[in-house]
Amino acid sequence: MKREKISVIGAGFTGATTAFLLAQKELGNVVLVDIPEAENPTKGKALDMWEAAPVQGFDSHVMGTSNYEDTKESDIVIITAGVARKPGMSRDDLVQINQKVMKSVSTQIKEHSPNAIILVLTNPVDAMTYTVFKETGFPKERVIGQSGVLDTARFCAFVAEELNVSVKDIRGFVLGGHGDTMVPLIRYSYAGGIPLEKLIAADRLQAIVDRTRVGGGEIVNLLGNGSAYYAPAASLVEMAEAIIKDQKRILPSIAYLEGEYGYEGIYLGVPTLLGANGIEKIYELDLTKEEKSALDASAESVREVMSVLI
Ligand code: APR
Repeated sequence: MKREKISVIGAGFTGATTAFLLAQKELGNVVLVDIPEAENPTKGKALDMWEAAPVQGFDSHVMGTSNYEDTKESDIVIITAGVARKPGMSRDDLVQINQKVMKSVSTQIKEHSPNAIILVLTNPVDAMTYTVFKETGFPKERVIGQSGVLDTARFCAFVAEELNVSVKDIRGFVLGGHGDTMVPLIRYSYAGGIPLEKLIAADRLQAIVDRTRVGGGEIVNLLGNGSAYYAPAASLVEMAEAIIKDQKRILPSIAYLEGEYGYEGIYLGVPTLLGANGIEKIYELDLTKEEKSALDASAESVREVMSVLI
């Protein structure tokens, strides 16, 4: 069986962590890519990872580069490239700066890996995934954004702590945009098959939901410089694994909607089936009035960000 080729664009905190997790799980050979100015550190990180292979016993090769020729015929491309918001930079500035990065990365992917499935992490992720979709012209099934796996993971981590039970037994369910406007569906969330509402008092459950909504900000405040990267990287790897192994996982993805849930022409977090073809299905659920209006607000905030795109 041929070994998959996975390119990770952006060799910063999230990209490098993602590359190492992919290699450790032997999901494929990994090419870590950054801008020419960062070529040596990128090569250094990749070499350092590869030198861990004999210790950890993985056969996935890792290389660092700034030359997209090296990414040729990737099966999966993961985009973590971009800049984080700095003091004095407006959210709109950030959108436009990262949009430029998405445009240049998309051009390279289109040229070198026309058949790849793309996973996007760069924020604001819904609008950035849309940009990559437009710029590559790839079919919607092959341009996928990550946010729900991470939001759900945060929710499940907090629930496991609250109940003092294994994280393995917790199932959460999040719809909508990333962060503040996400829509956690408590009635689809369980611990060992038991609905969470039966195990946790309503006010405690609400506190967990609120903490999940600002989960990214909590890490930013603690780090003091930069944003979360371990859990985001783990989330990307879970999605990549579902695709590479054709696992047919039901995971939340940021998917292009053409009428689903009543939305047209936007990328939004919805439950999807992930397999060898990328997004193989979007699940449409009946929502309560409150859930639908929360999702409407989420879609509206995604549209607001999209209106800044140039
Ligand atoms: N091509 C390739 N790499 C690029 C480009 C580009 N055009 N522009 C920037 N980069 C690289 C930077 O050089 C840097 O190494 O992207 C990397 C970003 O890494 P970090 O600054 O460490 O950011 P990180 O914490 O990894 O977050 C990356 O993920 O979670 C999101 O909001 C976060 O959008 C951000 C992204």
